[in-house]
Amino acid sequence: MSSNNIESGLIENRLFAPSEEFTKNARINAEKLAALHQQADTDYTGFWAQQANEMLDWHKPFSNVLDDSNAPLYSWFNDGELNVSYNCIDRHLTNNANKNAIIFEGEQGDTTFITYLQLHQRVSAFANALKERGIKSGDRVVIYMPMTPEAVISMQACARIGAIHSVVFGGFSADSLRDRINDAGAKMLITADGGHRGGKIVELKSAADKALEGGCPSIESVIVYQRTQHDIKMQAGRDIWWHDAVSEQSDHCEPVWVNAEHPLFLLYTSGSTGKPKGIQHSSAGYLLGAAVTNSWVFDLKDDDVFWCTADVGWITGHTYVAYGPLAVGSTIVIYEGAPTVPDAGRFWKMVQDHKVSVFYTAPTAIRALMKLGDNFPNAYDLSSLRLLGTVGEPINPEAWIWYHEVIGKGKCPIVDTWWQTETGSNMIAPIPGVVATKPGSCTKALPGIMADVVDEDGNSISEANRGGYLVITKPFPSMLRTIWGDDERYKDTYYPKFDGRFYLAGDSARKDADGYFWIMGRIDDVLNVSGHRLGTMEIESALVSHELVAEAAVVGKPHEVKGESIFAYVVLKGERPAGGIDEELTKTLRNWVGEQIGAIAKPDEIRYADNLPKTRSGKIMRRLLRTIAKGEEITSDTSTLENESILDQLQGKA
Ligand code: WTA
Repeated sequence: MSSNNIESGLIENRLFAPSEEFTKNARINAEKLAALHQQADTDYTGFWAQQANEMLDWHKPFSNVLDDSNAPLYSWFNDGELNVSYNCIDRHLTNNANKNAIIFEGEQGDTTFITYLQLHQRVSAFANALKERGIKSGDRVVIYMPMTPEAVISMQACARIGAIHSVVFGGFSADSLRDRINDAGAKMLITADGGHRGGKIVELKSAADKALEGGCPSIESVIVYQRTQHDIKMQAGRDIWWHDAVSEQSDHCEPVWVNAEHPLFLLYTSGSTGKPKGIQHSSAGYLLGAAVTNSWVFDLKDDDVFWCTADVGWITGHTYVAYGPLAVGSTIVIYEGAPTVPDAGRFWKMVQDHKVSVFYTAPTAIRALMKLGDNFPNAYDLSSLRLLGTVGEPINPEAWIWYHEVIGKGKCPIVDTWWQTETGSNMIAPIPGVVATKPGSCTKALPGIMADVVDEDGNSISEANRGGYLVITKPFPSMLRTIWGDDERYKDTYYPKFDGRFYLAGDSARKDADGYFWIMGRIDDVLNVSGHRLGTMEIESALVSHELVAEAAVVGKPHEVKGESIFAYVVLKGERPAGGIDEELTKTLRNWVGEQIGAIAKPDEIRYADNLPKTRSGKIMRRLLRTIAKGEEITSDTSTLENESILDQLQGKA
């Protein structure tokens, strides 16, 4: 891609300043923000050292701040020691032992309240159960759980003993789970009999069984949390129920002090190749990013109730559910199920019932709920809300305005937060009491985050609204440390250009005349479907692994609710179906992809052709395929196409 290809879209100029009242009570006011930026700009490492000392409790203080001697394999605070679970739980016991850490609601309406003291006991007991089953510092543990407090307890228990967790989203298939277990070399799997979602049971244990049957030699034991109580198989000698594993355990477990750089977790995410990559995060740097952004961006204060709707299977559920809000001593809401059960008022009823004050969700959820009408939110008292957030994809102005007016009643600032699995925490986002927002812009980089838009040669683009590569020009504490087991892939993926000077995010962006960032989309072959990252290559590999498929190309097509939908062009080994339509086969292939990756990766549309459009040099013409998927007229030059006659097939005309 060249930056000339990045065209900037609509210019949105409405400006929304926070109310005086919000600003008056906010943690960060204009003066404080200016001072933070000033310090970060003049004394970068001093700035981060001070934040690390103020925000985190250290067992052994650090003296090194940033070590860039092995760039781009950076490390931070690397002679210090701490424990993440201690920072999220223990240190709040003195003043907040009886404060709710977690408010949980199951899809069927059951609620559980867990105080910091109870969380401490439950995490400690479970950590002891892990130890009893041979888990030690540095061992990998895969977590494949429904969205219940036990997911967070599992993560915190791993952190407590220095085990490295890797949470696999419950919507991923058995095959995806197996690949991740094997790549991580996990010794243990923590799962559940199932979870409730959309009025159905998500069959987690049977998927886990299937994954393990396919060969996961490193797994020694499986702990199964009983949630749905439906019939599942337990394998003697390997599987144990959660309640049995903890029943005899002490609720005291001394935290294992780890080096600041000790890996806290791996989280697999899609890239532009067929194989998901295990993003490796550190303990201290990651937690620091999580803590400062929960404080600066979400403005969390002692009486807040924070509901981030993300599943713990994604990075947002790590940083804004399982770790960050707890690190700053807040109360989180966890919801197990779907937003439309029993109806589209579920989120808003929960906001009312639990007096949620800060609410963070994805544009796709906002658009879906917006479509179902204002009656749902209007039926509930949303006056507890004071701050709203979005993440995962650009939010279109229409959805932004709806969120602002119908949910926020015009009084809640909206923090549109740009960041990635790799960055660990918010990078570009408004400080809500200070920065006026514009619908669709994530505004400006946070203090200590040096973001820029550069051209092909790495020069900063000063011209307003000219698109380019979004980069972060200095290493920052919460950034990924590497790709698990593959430093070379880490370097090639994130530092491929500009002499390794900048972290390349993989997004294109522009800055407007006020210096506000506008994210324009991915520059690689990664789709953003309902805020979830999916590599086109991954879906293509899944398709071609089916015995009937010879070749496949997958592109994104703009979608009103999901942001992007998945459009696949398939060449079969046998005859092309008459007229290019075969509904049965399409169903089979969709289910096949569902089994290979997970339901979220199922193509929405499949079109069959005799060949794929390729240049004479054999490259698939993806831009052409995107144009066709959108149903737009083909204006690009197709004369280099090897077989021009397939255009009609690709367009569904023949
Ligand atoms: C996109 C999710 C526009 C972007 C935290 C990024 C966004 C990818 C925004 C990372 C936003 C995330 N506005 N686009 N506020 N936030 N993105 O790793 O393309 O699941 O590179 O992390 O989502 O997705 P990931």
